Amino acid sequence: MSGAGAVPAFPVAGGQLVVGGVPLDRLAARVGSTPFFAYDRDAITRRVDRVRAALGGRIALKYAVKANPMPAVVQHLAGLVDALDVASSGEMQTALDTPMPAARISFAGPGKTDDELTRAVAAGVLVEVESAGEARRLVAAGERIGIGPRVAVRVNPDFQVKGSGMRMGGGPQQFGVDAEAVPELLGWLAAAGVEVEGFHVFAGSQNLSADILREAETRTVDLVLSLARHTPTPVRYVNLGGGFGIPYFEKDSPLDVEAVGGHLAGLVAERLDPELPGAEVVVELGRYLVGEAGVYVTRVVDRKVSRGRTYLVVDGGMHHQLAASGNFGQVIRRNYPIAVGSRMGAPADERATVVGCLCTPLDLLGDDVDLPRADVGDLLVLFQAGAYGLTASPTAFLGHPQPAEALV
Ligand SMILES: Cc1ncc(COP(=O)(O)O)c(C=O)c1O
Repeated sequence: MSGAGAVPAFPVAGGQLVVGGVPLDRLAARVGSTPFFAYDRDAITRRVDRVRAALGGRIALKYAVKANPMPAVVQHLAGLVDALDVASSGEMQTALDTPMPAARISFAGPGKTDDELTRAVAAGVLVEVESAGEARRLVAAGERIGIGPRVAVRVNPDFQVKGSGMRMGGGPQQFGVDAEAVPELLGWLAAAGVEVEGFHVFAGSQNLSADILREAETRTVDLVLSLARHTPTPVRYVNLGGGFGIPYFEKDSPLDVEAVGGHLAGLVAERLDPELPGAEVVVELGRYLVGEAGVYVTRVVDRKVSRGRTYLVVDGGMHHQLAASGNFGQVIRRNYPIAVGSRMGAPADERATVVGCLCTPLDLLGDDVDLPRADVGDLLVLFQAGAYGLTASPTAFLGHPQPAEALV
């Protein structure tokens, strides 16, 4: 038995989970079909407020759209954060459709096509180049349409951050320009007449350790300051990444965001401000802003007992919420937090295995979980579904309909 994951903080009323102020059965009726994703608007707002308080007023907060690109979510966040980061032309369009000015949008990620680079230049979006080749293609794209590109260099740091769910910096990487190769690239860009606005260092994602994140912050600031000595014009933009994690599993402890933010605010005041006065300093977060605000709701369509094991078969599955099945980067499969949404607070009097409707044993949503007895028609809720859920899942697999999404 592997437990039911970390305990989430949604209100409960009359035994019903409440999302965005609406009891779950009523929300399901309002959405009109299961499965669906629901994102709690106020929970997102509260999370942004908390991060802002932790960072203090000097550091800007950017939302990484990749975590949850639902247009309504991005619109909502556009009114709360200082900037948006996108990873494709599709996300760029979603971001440009919000009131966020194009000048406050950045585009990071490997494999940007000439078409995407051209669109970014035309839009006035800041392109964070991932390689010397991409920098050359960006400059050429600007020349083709007669508009100067806005450029920052994404740096692959010369250190690794331990404890990240996904490491995206240090060692050989497809992400960013190796730190030691950055001075040469800066020289080439200067010769091409392009002014580099600054640097982006993103070392990893899903880190729950304040100690490790603080160490990464210090090393990132050291790195940026050493690279800043090679820019012919003053550095105006310093994107320090983020990687703030959320608890998914039973033994995970929430990140001490106040410790991480307070440390960073101190570093900026003591180290960055004296050397790079006036530079915008940015923290870029996806999962931490939206992950815990989302639930994936799916209905029990069958109950069966096979050789002593009780199965709850639901109408959703890994094709919508891949991560909860353990197939999105986990080494050892563990249960995401799961509950019977209409029987909150009831005794967990049954041990059940929750499986999705796909014809593969990989479609496992809860392995031997202690739950209140659930029947056909009951709503099962998977928590921590607000980030890397629907758009990080193989929705076409086995031809089931797309789930609905609601910002509540
Ligand atoms: C460049 C960049 N920024 C931000 C993020 C968002 O990370 P997270 O959702 O863990 O905050 C990622 C994640 O892959 C990334 O690659």
